[in-house]
Amino acid sequence: MCGIIGYSGSFSAQKILLDGLEQLEYRGYDSAGIALLDEDGKLYLQKKAGMVSVLREACEAAPVEARCGIGHTRWATHGGVSDVNAHPHSCGQITLIHNGIIENYHEITAAFGFADRLRSETDTEVAACLLDHLYHGDPFETLVKAADILVGSYAFCILFQDHPGKIFCIRRVSPLVAAHGETGSFVASDLTALIARSRSYFVVPEATVMVLSAGEISLFDQNGHSVAPELLTVDWDVESAQKGGYPHFMLKEIHEQPDVLENTIRPRLFGGLPDFREEGIPDELFEKCENITILACGTAMYAGMVGKAIMEQILRLPVTVHIASEFRYDTPLLDEKTLTIVISQSGETIDTLAALRLARECGSRTLAIVNVKGSTIARESDYVLYTHAGPEIAVASTKAYMVQLAVLYLLTCRLALLKETFTRQEGRCFTEELLASSSSIRQVLQDDRAVKRAVKAVKRAENAFFIGRGLDYAFSLEGALKLKEISYIHAEAYAAGELKHGTIALIEEGTPVIALATQEKIFAKTVSNVREVKARGAAVILIAKAGAKTDPDVYDIRIDLPVEQDMFTVFPAAAVLQLLAYYTSDAKGLNVDKPRNLAKSVTVE
Ligand code: G6P
Repeated sequence: MCGIIGYSGSFSAQKILLDGLEQLEYRGYDSAGIALLDEDGKLYLQKKAGMVSVLREACEAAPVEARCGIGHTRWATHGGVSDVNAHPHSCGQITLIHNGIIENYHEITAAFGFADRLRSETDTEVAACLLDHLYHGDPFETLVKAADILVGSYAFCILFQDHPGKIFCIRRVSPLVAAHGETGSFVASDLTALIARSRSYFVVPEATVMVLSAGEISLFDQNGHSVAPELLTVDWDVESAQKGGYPHFMLKEIHEQPDVLENTIRPRLFGGLPDFREEGIPDELFEKCENITILACGTAMYAGMVGKAIMEQILRLPVTVHIASEFRYDTPLLDEKTLTIVISQSGETIDTLAALRLARECGSRTLAIVNVKGSTIARESDYVLYTHAGPEIAVASTKAYMVQLAVLYLLTCRLALLKETFTRQEGRCFTEELLASSSSIRQVLQDDRAVKRAVKAVKRAENAFFIGRGLDYAFSLEGALKLKEISYIHAEAYAAGELKHGTIALIEEGTPVIALATQEKIFAKTVSNVREVKARGAAVILIAKAGAKTDPDVYDIRIDLPVEQDMFTVFPAAAVLQLLAYYTSDAKGLNVDKPRNLAKSVTVE
């Protein structure tokens, strides 16, 4: 949460910071601000409630010639959305931006008597006061002392007014990446802001002080010894972080799914069977496991729910899925026989990270499924499997979900081969079907007329229900989340058989019910639940396999899925549900890519 960018170099910092903030805006869009420090140590501060475009307008009306500065786009935690609470915050010699939460800011305010100096309601301004209080000419010493006092998670980029041309950074938990390119030095909260600047970057290590200047980036440990950064190479291209002719990132990302699915699956197949040993994941990890725990948040957690349904069916092993924010304060039932699978697009979600750490403390071995290379979860997990979705910019996750599923299916197949619940032939058939999912998604994307008809039944509703049984229930959870997060329609997913225990009371004339009935074994059961809601006036949108027979009076709109095998219906069905949410949000004229109150990367609790 919160996007951070810093630049020191030979170009206009104002332009670079504003462009970078636009790239990072999906991390938060309540307010934005920049601070520029010119060669003479003169500071220019501009901050505005609202989106980066509001800030840009204000900055362009008063251009500043400076080659060093910091910029921030905020997702409010402490203090409402206002100009004064926007970052950067200044105090004396210090101007800084922050991502994270300083948990002891009240204690610091009281201990150092800062109350009269504060203008905002933020924890960040307290940190600025603390640094100014500790500062006696040596930024390094100040930052080391401050790190001893500050409790919580933080990534700070700091300007000391008497050190023009330099940006000082420290971090704890909250992410920061840095790169030095031909035009200067850059620091940002994530890679998307750096892709256009340099192919090589590094993750800023915790417990170091980083100093950026136009010519170089230096890192020092707590004792002042120089530390060499571990360089990584960006494998995303600039176009992948742009809209490429689509009206929204979300639609573009939905359409990328067939390709990213193939990119994630193909390199892991050897003779048609999945194998992860080339990625450093030994078979012994799977052979020894007696049960599986999946930890994640949001969409990633819902991918885990599908994983559980598939794994239990094929492997006959107990699989539990936990919401990471609950798990981290629980007394978990894990041990060395548990394989813990942690799923995260960003690799930075704070609750997922804390849950991963707890799982490791319990002696469980951990395998992370992550999209962002070098992210904290990827680095802290025992093993990592990267999804190859490229940058996902829209706040509502689509392609990342699809490739998380793909990896879970591949893992299931590898485990099934090792635990001998699959023969090699069965394994090959399974991966063939999995690969074929990319063409079933393509077909859904090529002809979305039925989805657009369904939008008419949904867009004016206040409530919508998604129902299904078994695997259908597992992916209806994601369908409901997608609809509510971008269209603001209250949507709930229900196990179809459970409706009669309360929820059916909410069905009235015209209430949209999106019924997923893709599983042959329970098809008739789901259809009879559909009849029950239809009889009470629901507008039923039935999603079923193309060949499945139903009476036409059961539904109002039917969407056919081009797939035969029950286990693989999730892929085209997910594409249908994503499109339904997308077109509904767009038809309501909402900000599809940046829904209210949300942020892409949840790096605070
Ligand atoms: C936020 C995002 C979701 C995402 C969730 C988990 O809520 O808006 O799209 O599913 O965080 O994020 P992660 O990066 O851990 O997958």
